[in-house]
Parts: sequence; C-alpha cells; structure tokens
Amino acid sequence: MDKIIIEGGRALKGKVKISGAKNAALPILAACILTPGLHVLENVPRLNDIKTMKRIMAKFGINFAKKQGLLEVNSNNVLGFEAPYDLVKTMRASILLLGPLLARYGRARISLPGGCAIGARPINFHLKALTAMGADISLNHGYITAQAGKLRGANISFDIPTVTGTENIMMAAVMAQGQTILRNSAKEPEVVDLANMLRGMGADIEGDGTDTITINGVKELRSARHKIISDRIEAGTFMIAAAMTKGDIKIDACCPENLRALMDKLEHAGATISFFDDCISVKGPDIIESVDIKTIPYPGFPSDLQAQFMSMMCIAKGWSMVRETIFENRFIHVSELRRMGANIEINGNQALIRGQEQLFSAPVMATDLRASACLILAGLVANGERTEVHRIYHLDRGYEDLEKKFKALGASIWREKVIS
Ligand code: EPU
Repeated sequence: MDKIIIEGGRALKGKVKISGAKNAALPILAACILTPGLHVLENVPRLNDIKTMKRIMAKFGINFAKKQGLLEVNSNNVLGFEAPYDLVKTMRASILLLGPLLARYGRARISLPGGCAIGARPINFHLKALTAMGADISLNHGYITAQAGKLRGANISFDIPTVTGTENIMMAAVMAQGQTILRNSAKEPEVVDLANMLRGMGADIEGDGTDTITINGVKELRSARHKIISDRIEAGTFMIAAAMTKGDIKIDACCPENLRALMDKLEHAGATISFFDDCISVKGPDIIESVDIKTIPYPGFPSDLQAQFMSMMCIAKGWSMVRETIFENRFIHVSELRRMGANIEINGNQALIRGQEQLFSAPVMATDLRASACLILAGLVANGERTEVHRIYHLDRGYEDLEKKFKALGASIWREKVIS
C-alpha cells in the first residue's frame, strides 16, 4: 500500500494539463457493449476505476487494445452477462453495465453494489425505470438478475436527479421499442458526453443537459469514435489548490463552462480567475475570505468538490458553512482535517468552519476518493515537517498522477510504499 508525503508551504506555479473525466469514461465504456464493433476512445484516463471497468467487461468477452494513446474497444464477441461481487464491490459504477447488457442481450446478472463510505447510495431509481421498460428484475443472494425480451419505451420521472441512473436508462432506451422520456434527469456534463457518444453510435437522443431527455429507440447502432471530455473535478481540485496555496497556475485542457459554480465561489473567496477556450488561470489571494457553499446537482456546486473546498475554508478568514445535500455521509474527511488543526463543527448535513491561521502537518487517513484530495490540499498548506496521507488507493481510483502534477507545479510531494 502507498502513502503520499507532503511538505507544505509552497505556492503552486506553472501549468497543468487535465486528464479525461472518470465519470464520463465509465458510462462511455459501458456503452460500447450496446453494439458489436470496434469502438475507438480518446482521452481515457489511466485510473483504477477504469481498470476495474475493463476487467469486468473483459469477463464478458470484450477486448481492449491501446494504440497511440487511443483505447480500442472490441465488442464483437460477448460471452457473459455477469458482473461478479469481487469486482463490483470495489466500484459502484459497475451498475452502469445493467442498461447496456439488457439492451443488447435481454439479460444481465450484476452484484448489488453495497453502501459506500459517503452514503447508502441505493439504486432503486435505476431498477424502477428498467421495470417500467419491461424488465423483470429480481434480487437474490446479493445479485440483481434482470431479464427482458425487448425493452420498450416508457415515461420515467426520477424522484431526484440521478447521474448514473439517467445514464443507465439512456443506454437501456436507445434500442428500445418506441419513445422514452426521462424527466427530472441529471444535467451533468458527463451525461451530455455519454449522449454525444450514443449519437455517434446512431442513437436518437434530444434534451440531454436539460431535465427532460427524449430517446427514440432505433433498430441498430454502429461502432463509434469518441473523445472523452476533460475531468471538471480534477480541474476544480487544481483551482482550489492554486487559491489555497496563494499560487498562480494555468489549467489546460479543461472546460471552463463546466466549472462556473466553483469559479464564482473562488472569486468570492478572493481568487483572481480568467479563462478562455479550454484554459483557466487562477491566482490565489493574500487573504482567503470565508464563503458558504451548498452542494446541488449540476449546474450547482458539485458534491465531488465539497471536501476540497472545505479544506480551503479551514484557513479562510472567519466562519463559513458547508451544506451537503447530495450524500448523507460525505463529511468523513472532517475528523482527519481536525487532526491537522481545523476547527469544524458538524450538525446534520451542515459543517460550520472557523478558519484558522494555519493547519499543521499530521499523519492522516483517506476515507474516500475526494477526501483523499482534500487531505492532500490541506497538506500543501500545512505548517510543520510533513503530512502523510495513508490509504491512497482511494486516490488512485479517480485522479491520474495527482502527486506528479502537483510536483510539477512546485509542491514538495511524493509517494512512498508503506512497509508493514
Ligand atoms: N439515489 C437514490 N436512488 C437511486 C439513485 C440515486 O436514492 O436509485 C440518491 C443517491 O443516494 C444520492 C442522490 O440520489 O443521494 C444522487 O446520486 P446519483 O445517483 O446522482 O449519484 P451516482 O450516480 O451514484 C455520480 C458520480 C459520483 C457523484 C454523484 C453526484 C459516477 C460514476 N459517480 O454518482 O461521483 O458524486 O454522481 O454528482 O458518475 C466521485 O467521482 O467521487 C463520485 C462519488
């Protein structure tokens, strides 16, 4: 197991290039199941979650080849329909295989993803929608077994917007009989990226990026070539890091349009931000002002940047309030931040933060993907010898070379093996 060591106190300077979006690449890989052929994907990030998705899909008989930075996905021969527990337990996004398998083969058996560190995360909306489309679903021995002759279009209204739920049902609907209308859909850029891939495959989809998506089922699809959008959460993490460390960095290969909510909050905190085309510059303020945030589905402030923003508020001037409305347990980083000197009180889904002049280095433990990033950010500004972030396997699920990118921006940060 690895740990990350940080000697804090250096302002970040220079340029960083953002990788492809994990949460777009995962459903897009799953979409390759929908039709036989050779799909070509650009900008697929090198992450453990992507490896897990490829390992499950390889069990179905799908082959992968890397050629000149591209990923070729050969879905000509599919031999299996089962996503086993030992792989699904490490990555909840495996549920994204349910829609495409049902659409292409009329059957799937997928281990039921359990709860995870940030909340219970049920999948009832996925299952209810597939049932409305004619699937017969049963839950036995920890597995979801789904059967359908031909899925049929349906009118589906999600109780609350669900990102993977919207994606799963979009994929189930592209070859269903008739029209599917999804209301109260998720509007995240990753949903739009999947819709773009599906249109490239010949699907008839309209309204993605709004709360009503209309899908007219088509008889068949074709293979496609697609470039995955850049990771807005990775870009956002660097933006916060620049502001926190009083740095001055340029973030390349990102999509400023997808980061409006964060830009607005960072400007209120005193950062200077400019952007054009696919690049954002962030200069940190001398004094970080306190700013309240509330996580909301896109285009609101993303839950996936809440922990990182809280890390910055720990050294802001005055009091701030962070409200988490998406996941019920996404404050587990708080006890680790407190070990570094943060003053945070939790009351239900609200965290009240009293900014401190300084955080202090300490050994801390990552509890989930975004919590890992939050602790690294805290380490970048911590006073003292060194911060050690343990259980870094969480980080490797969703950030490509994060510590190398920070090092290139001037941070004193490296990875070490933990010898037990
Ligand atoms: N929900 C239900 N029932 C469902 C589906 C969702 O009650 O059937 C609830 C969830 O428990 C949650 C809310 O609805 O309270 C929204 O959850 P959503 O389904 O949108 O989350 P998700 O699709 O499981 C994706 C990302 C997460 C990100 C959330 C919110 C992927 C692979 N994962 O999860 O990413 O936090 O949307 O934006 O796209 C991460 O990358 O670190 C991460 C956790």
